[in-house]
Amino acid sequence: MKKKHKGDLSIQVVAMPAETNPSGDVFGGWLISQMDIAGGIFCQKIAKGRVVTVALNSTTFRYPVFVGDILSCFVKLIRIGTTSITVHIEAWVNRAFEEGKIIKVTEGDFTYVKVDKNRKPEVIKKVNRKKA
Ligand SMILES: CC(C)(COP(=O)(O)OP(=O)(O)OC[C@H]1O[C@@H](n2cnc3c(N)ncnc32)[C@H](O)[C@@H]1OP(=O)(O)O)[C@@H](O)C(=O)NCCC(=O)NCCS
Repeated sequence: MKKKHKGDLSIQVVAMPAETNPSGDVFGGWLISQMDIAGGIFCQKIAKGRVVTVALNSTTFRYPVFVGDILSCFVKLIRIGTTSITVHIEAWVNRAFEEGKIIKVTEGDFTYVKVDKNRKPEVIKKVNRKKA
């Protein structure tokens, strides 16, 4: 992607016909789930363990996503707390039928919590924070 995205590429996926609403546009819920997966992968690497999503904040849908768009989710670290990690996630599309036009479609802040085997919050080790 040549345009200025913030953060590291976490996932890339093609929007398929199964993800559409009756108008033919891609569901916002599908897009959010892709962003959630992207953030989860990023935070799991930092936490060195399982993370769950606790909050989605100030998510903005700027432009629609269409079938055939290549969706890329970029993740930028905002904050590591005691048990939580907050990231900013940007979703961009590369639109094949518009000569590869690149558009930022959605962005938002997501917070994840590291959990133990009993699904309770677990402290993120300092050594992991330094590597983030
Ligand atoms: C996430 C969960 C384990 C947190 O448990 P909890 O007992 O409420 O934990 P706490 O109140 O101690 O909060 C844990 C951390 O989350 C943060 N947090 C809690 N609610 C938050 C919110 N709404 N926004 C941002 N951060 C939040 C706290 O500030 C804390 O961060 P810190 O340790 O870095 O200071 C629990 O709420 C849960 O299991 N939720 C369901 C998760 C889920 O199913 N997600 C969807 C599928 S992955």
